[in-house]
Amino acid sequence: MTLAITGATGQLGRLATAALKARGLSPIALVRDPAKAADLGTETRAFDYKAAATLAPALAGVKTLVLISSNDFDDRMGQHRSVIDAAKAAGVLRILYTSILRADTTPLILAADHKATEEAIRDAGLTFTFLRNGWYTENHTGSLGGAIAAGALIGSAGAGRFSSAARADYAEAIAATASDGHANQVYELAGDTSHSYADLAAEVSRLTGKTIPYNDLPADTYAGILQSFGLPAGFAHVLADADVQAGQGALFDESRTLSRLIGRATTPWQATVAKALA
Ligand SMILES: NC(=O)c1ccc[n+]([C@@H]2O[C@H](COP(=O)([O-])OP(=O)(O)OC[C@H]3O[C@@H](n4cnc5c(N)ncnc54)[C@H](OP(=O)(O)O)[C@@H]3O)[C@@H](O)[C@H]2O)c1
Repeated sequence: MTLAITGATGQLGRLATAALKARGLSPIALVRDPAKAADLGTETRAFDYKAAATLAPALAGVKTLVLISSNDFDDRMGQHRSVIDAAKAAGVLRILYTSILRADTTPLILAADHKATEEAIRDAGLTFTFLRNGWYTENHTGSLGGAIAAGALIGSAGAGRFSSAARADYAEAIAATASDGHANQVYELAGDTSHSYADLAAEVSRLTGKTIPYNDLPADTYAGILQSFGLPAGFAHVLADADVQAGQGALFDESRTLSRLIGRATTPWQATVAKALA
């Protein structure tokens, strides 16, 4: 089986590439910048979702493609569609796609591209494995430094719970499903345990010995603050919306499908927090 993975120089892609190799697989890294992939220890091919000419040559001979969703919101669906079309033309048999929790029903604005991408893969007649990733715990720990400096954690999720898992857990799920046996399966992936922003603030307070409260903000206020940190207005709005929907349970999941798939418990969110603060 010739296996290739996009986004291999990204944070999830690097972990997934290592996890695939640890299982004895030899993924081909499809990357925008081959120089960034020099340390991956894999065959590397140039591949840019937005540069159509790179797609067909890079997919030659590939039978299983891990498509890591783009982080570029400039026509993200168009980027994914180009890859799906090129994969079909190149004779790719199966696409594993990193989607989002309950992509078909979730109200998250963020999910629209994922839902459309899943549909495009199905419509192309390709065999699929949809890895519907829940929240990365790192989404929350990435901004802890700023929160500690400011003396408060902010968000718009109220008491909503995030069943988050570490990127490494989701990466392991890619590796666990890359071999045969997961044809046309949809996996709702999330952490075994969950936390609210108040839980996160309490844990940060405990670890730092400082009092860091959680301040729940109206979505517009939160989006405005994210913009003031340098996020584009559209993305700030999408993130604030994710919080609001999380407040209604959109990122909570008790299925434990992820831990069953990877054969171990997911990384406790507290461990990811401790790592970020170490
Ligand atoms: N579930 C969640 O909580 C959550 C959170 C954040 C992101 N995500 C999604 O999951 C994906 C992976 O997460 P991550 O943390 O690994 O993100 P990341 O570190 O930002 O990696 C994104 C990857 O996409 C690649 N990419 C972007 N535009 C491309 C293009 N035109 N052609 C080819 N490759 C392109 C990047 O290439 P370079 O290495 O060249 O930059 C990078 O490897 C993200 O892209 C996003 O869609 C999910």
